[in-house]
Amino acid sequence: LTGLVTLDPGYKNSGSCTSEITFLDGELGILRYRGYGIEDLAENANFLEVSYLLIFGEKPTAEVLEKFENDIRKYTLVNEEMKSILDGFPKTAHPMGILAAMTSALTSFNPKSVDVENEKDMYCAVCKTMGKFLVIATWTFRKNMGYPLNYYDNTKGYVENFMRLMFEIPTEPYKVNKTFIEALDKLFILHADHEQNCSTSTVRMVGSSHAGLFASISAGVSALWGPLHGGANQAVLEMLEEIHNNGGDTEKYLAKAKDKEDPFRLMGFGHRVYKNFDPRAKIIKKAANEVLATLGVEDPILDIARKLEAAALEDEYFKSRNLYPNVDFYSGIIYRALGIPTDMFTVMFAIGRLPGWIAQWKEMRENKEPIGRPRQIYTGATLREF
Ligand code: SDX
Repeated sequence: LTGLVTLDPGYKNSGSCTSEITFLDGELGILRYRGYGIEDLAENANFLEVSYLLIFGEKPTAEVLEKFENDIRKYTLVNEEMKSILDGFPKTAHPMGILAAMTSALTSFNPKSVDVENEKDMYCAVCKTMGKFLVIATWTFRKNMGYPLNYYDNTKGYVENFMRLMFEIPTEPYKVNKTFIEALDKLFILHADHEQNCSTSTVRMVGSSHAGLFASISAGVSALWGPLHGGANQAVLEMLEEIHNNGGDTEKYLAKAKDKEDPFRLMGFGHRVYKNFDPRAKIIKKAANEVLATLGVEDPILDIARKLEAAALEDEYFKSRNLYPNVDFYSGIIYRALGIPTDMFTVMFAIGRLPGWIAQWKEMRENKEPIGRPRQIYTGATLREF
C-alpha cells in the first residue's frame, strides 16, 4: 500500500465530502437545511418549498414556487410501458423492491444522463424525478391492493395528490382531510435530508460513477429499505404491535434489547450522530398526539410507545449509550392513523427523502467529486500455488 490506510468500519469517523446542504450537531440535537432550523421549517414552510430550498440552495419566492409546482406537474404522467414492469411483480412483492426497480427503469426513458452543467437540463431532471417518483411510489400500494392505478390531478397540490393517488377508488372519491395533508407535509419536511446517512451516501457513491439520477436514487431506495435505516419505521410498528399482542410487557422487550446474546434491538432508538434527542422525533411525537386527538383516536400502540420511551429514557443501559428515540420511533404511528399500511412506511420515508437525495447528487456532480473507491486492509491468504 502506498501510504497508510485508516480502517474505519461504517465510516464512523470519516467525512466523505464537503457539503452546504444540511448541518447536524449530534451533541446538541441540531438539524438545519441550508441554515434554516428544522423546527422553523416544520412550522413555517411546506414540503415543495423545502424541496426547492434543499436542491437549489435558496428559499423560492411565491412565483418561483408556483412555477416549480407547475413544472413538476408537466412530468407526472408515467409512461404506460412502466405498467408492464409493475405487472411483472408478484402480489407479495415489497413496495420498496418495486419502487427501486421502477425508479431504475425510468432511466431507460432518459438515456441521456443529466448534464449537470446545463441549468435547464438539471432543473427539468429535478421536476421529472419529483413528479414521477411520487406516482410510482403510490402504484406499489395500488398493485398490492389490486386497485386500478391513479393519475396525478394537476388541479391539486403535491401532498394532496399523494393521498388521492393512494386512496381514491372509482367507487369512492377521496375525501380531503386537511389535518392529514398538513401532518404528511410536515412529515415529508422532517425526512427531506440528513447529510451523509446510509442511503444518501449510497446515492452519492452510485452517482460518483456518473450513473444517471434515477439509477442513483434507485440505489438509495434499496439502502433505505434496511431495518437499521429507513426500514426502522416499519420495524417500530411491528415491534409495538408485538408488545401489544403480548400483553404490553415493555420491560420484557427492554431487557431483550439489552441482552447481548439477543440480536433484538429497540427499533426507533439510537442514532449514529444524535447523542441527544433527535429533533425530528420531538416534532413528530407532538404531531402524533395532535393527529390522534383530531381523529379522536385512542391508539393503544401510542400508549405502548410512550411507556417504552419513558422506561428506556430512565434505563442505565440506554442512558449510558446516549440512546434516544429517533425519527422512526413515532412516524409510523401517524402513518397508521392516516390509514397507510405498514409495508408502505419506508416508501413514505423515501418520498420525503427524495429532494435530499437529488440535492446531494447534484452537489456531488457540481463539485466534480471523484469516483468513490475506498481501500481496505487485506487479511486474506498470502501467495499460494493453485
Ligand atoms: C435512520 O444516519 C442517519 O441520519 C439515519 C436517519 C436519516 O434521517 O437518514 O436518521 C434515519 O436510519 C434512523 C435510525 C433508524 N434505525 C433504528 O431505529 C434501528 C435501531 N437502531 C440501531 O440499530 C442503531 O442505533 C443505529 C443503527 C441507528 C446506529 O448504530 P451505530 O451508530 O452503529 O451504533 P452501534 O450499533 O455501535 O451501537 C452503540 C451501542 C452498542 O452497544 P455496545 O456494543 O456499546 O454494548 O449501543 C447499542 C449497541 O448494541 N445500541 C442499541 C440500539 N442502538 C444501539 N441497543 C439496543 N437497541 C438499540 N436500538
